[in-house]
Amino acid sequence: MPKLSVNIDHIATIRQARRGNEPDPVAAATLAEFAGAAGIIAHLREDRRHVQDRDLLLLRQTVRTKLNLEMAATAEMQRIALDLRPDIVTLVPEKREELTTEGGLDVASRMEGLTAFIATLQKSGIPVSLFIDPVEGQIEAAKKAGAQWVEIHTGSYANADREFEREHELQKVIAAATTAAKLGLRVGAGHGLNYVNVQAIASIPEVEELNIGHSIISRAALVGMDRAVRDMVALAK
Ligand code: PXP
Repeated sequence: MPKLSVNIDHIATIRQARRGNEPDPVAAATLAEFAGAAGIIAHLREDRRHVQDRDLLLLRQTVRTKLNLEMAATAEMQRIALDLRPDIVTLVPEKREELTTEGGLDVASRMEGLTAFIATLQKSGIPVSLFIDPVEGQIEAAKKAGAQWVEIHTGSYANADREFEREHELQKVIAAATTAAKLGLRVGAGHGLNYVNVQAIASIPEVEELNIGHSIISRAALVGMDRAVRDMVALAK
């Protein structure tokens, strides 16, 4: 059974809607760990639209499981990672105008730069995972570039709205996980996974870790609504 790592970016998204202090993603991370999460993921974007540098400093001090820093392969982020020393770095492509990460890294076409980038992190003891589409060439490229992990992008599987398409996308994820494990890469999966579609991915034997954010934060908002309103009604009397 894979372990669950929880992405807390969207707790920060809600906070940034008012540029205030709440809800604090650091508190959310602690609660996620109390509930059994095996890891916490935060994506520090170049534009700082949700997670802030301060969040990462505090997460580094408070996360008791595994802190996964998701970031673009830029010089600024490399400096931050080397200072912060997360338990793992996940490299993702990043575009300013996107709503969320839109696809895997094209490792094959950035081999030279990524190989050097990964080597710098790994030499200082920080393992690197590459977020890639379930495509054989990308998995081979990830291995060649020196990554220890791959995170297989499950977005196309999650977004498929016809059963046969979903099955087709699932088979691609299964094939990618098998290839990666054969090459000696450790395998995670994520993006778009929710309470309806997670089980098929969780049952792939090679997948050691699931990285999930949006659906968990969405459910937290709804299952927390009853208690939050009751607490305010009690005070508003
Ligand atoms: N993995 C990676 C590399 C991501 O960029 C994201 C989104 O930030 C996730 C997993 C989590 O995706 P979701 O929020 O759709 O669960």
